[in-house]
Amino acid sequence: MKKSILKASALAAAAVMSAALLTGCGGEDKLVMGTNAAFPPFEFTTAQGLVGEFDGIDVAIASEIASDMGKQLEVADMDFDGLIAAVSTGKVDMVAAGMTATDERRKNVDFSDTYFLASQVMVVAADNTDITKAEDLKNDKTVGVVLGYTGDSIVTNDLQIPENKITRTNRGLDVVQEVKNGKIDAVVIDSATGKALAEKNGLKVVEDPEAFETEEYAIAVKKGNTELLDKINATLAELKASGKIDELAVKYNQ
Ligand code: ARG
Repeated sequence: MKKSILKASALAAAAVMSAALLTGCGGEDKLVMGTNAAFPPFEFTTAQGLVGEFDGIDVAIASEIASDMGKQLEVADMDFDGLIAAVSTGKVDMVAAGMTATDERRKNVDFSDTYFLASQVMVVAADNTDITKAEDLKNDKTVGVVLGYTGDSIVTNDLQIPENKITRTNRGLDVVQEVKNGKIDAVVIDSATGKALAEKNGLKVVEDPEAFETEEYAIAVKKGNTELLDKINATLAELKASGKIDELAVKYNQ
């Protein structure tokens, strides 16, 4: 009798474990956030982060979502261009990664309400005088972008910078370093991250609001996962109404 109970519970445990393995998600009590933690101030790693080594505006927002759901937040860090696949195959529950809600991405995932507005900027050497607007990049300039970011598609498709003038890396910091070392002329990247990286590396930021449209950051879930999406939107609405998102922006930009 005792033996069979033990056996049954072992079987149940095995079933739970394999279900967790199959879905890849943390299971009942965990909310797994996919991100690419090389995008300060939205996500970055630090000795003592909010969740393990991870910290930033998105990590703080996702923690609130998880806690409203009575779950523990887990962060899955990966290359940015793998995030859409990770959420649409169920490897992670949601993507919180300063991700711009684009029509292209909407084909594969559903997005929450907007929680932050941004636009692209150009990061150039502090003494650069010949790049004052986006059009100037077409003047034989070498331009850096991060693979799969909206900046990549703007430089490649909208500005049509020739391929041999584009440098693509997996992290903003790496491509910004190329500007610092005088290897390339400019990096096109999101405003808050561009400012953070420029400041740290003694570079400057050039804005061109006419050329670079406003981008809306939103959290992505698997297509059709309205149950999670509704919960995310409820928490976002609460955070916006209480002024908490603005507070986070101020806190993490320092
Ligand atoms: N907003 C840009 C995009 O959606 C860049 C986001 C980069 N995010 C990150 N966590 N690395 O393409």
